[in-house]
Amino acid sequence: MKRILVTGATSGIGRAMAVTLHRAGHRVLAIGRNRAALSALTVEAEGIETLALDLVEAEEVAAALSGRAFDVLVNNAGTIPRPRPFDAMERAEIDRTVLVNLQSVLWLTRLVVPGMRAQGSGHVIFTGSSAGHAPGANFAVYAATKAAVAAFAAALRAELSADGIRVTEIAPGRVETALYADVLDEAERQAMYRGSASLQPEDVAEALLAVLNLPARADVTRLDIMPTRPVPAIKLDTRVS
Ligand SMILES: NC(=O)c1ccc[n+]([C@@H]2O[C@H](COP(=O)([O-])OP(=O)(O)OC[C@H]3O[C@@H](n4cnc5c(N)ncnc54)[C@H](OP(=O)(O)O)[C@@H]3O)[C@@H](O)[C@H]2O)c1
Repeated sequence: MKRILVTGATSGIGRAMAVTLHRAGHRVLAIGRNRAALSALTVEAEGIETLALDLVEAEEVAAALSGRAFDVLVNNAGTIPRPRPFDAMERAEIDRTVLVNLQSVLWLTRLVVPGMRAQGSGHVIFTGSSAGHAPGANFAVYAATKAAVAAFAAALRAELSADGIRVTEIAPGRVETALYADVLDEAERQAMYRGSASLQPEDVAEALLAVLNLPARADVTRLDIMPTRPVPAIKLDTRVS
């Protein structure tokens, strides 16, 4: 039984991870902002602990987690701006993406790792993205944050492995979740997932469980998980106005 903190646990990949890890017998603390989704999670995963927190509120997060130690930190929460050329992006969406996908990940990791060092073991997981390793047009800022997370994970591993702390980046391709719900219209979103070639959140959750089940001597540094069949291209009006 491990004490596991999962962020982004109200939806998609993080929710599936929280449920899967809870069912596997781990003690899971599930974090997200959406209180209704957190209470629904406690119905599906009876006994799971939840905390409503906005990860960009660093001081609130620090206060809420003060004095707590974890065996596993799953940095999964993330956001994506509407795909479009970089020079059409608003400054606010650039800043928000960096704040949620990178800065708050750094802050939370900074908060949790000292406890792992003190206990001489631990495992830090990051949900990266294939976009961080194979960036493409219309995803510049999202890809940049995910590439930064990949570099951070690698550097952190170099610092922590001598203390018995493992660091794993899970880099999925397209997963059918609510990630694009706020930034694509429903027709665009449905077209993205047509044909069910996309991964499902449970696929990524099972991959995480397999990683965690390995003996402490084995550190999966990066796990790429892609849909087997090609997924439809995202079709958008990306003209720069
Ligand atoms: N879906 C894909 O195709 C795909 C592919 C590769 C990587 N990823 C990555 O997978 C991760 C999970 O995304 P998903 O696809 O599962 O999307 P999702 O269904 O939209 O879930 C995103 C989660 O992040 C949480 N979140 C966002 N901003 C937050 C904040 N400020 N504070 C606390 N929680 C916050 C959301 O919770 P609340 O709204 O309740 O706060 C939600 O639980 C992300 O890092 C994403 O970049 C996704």
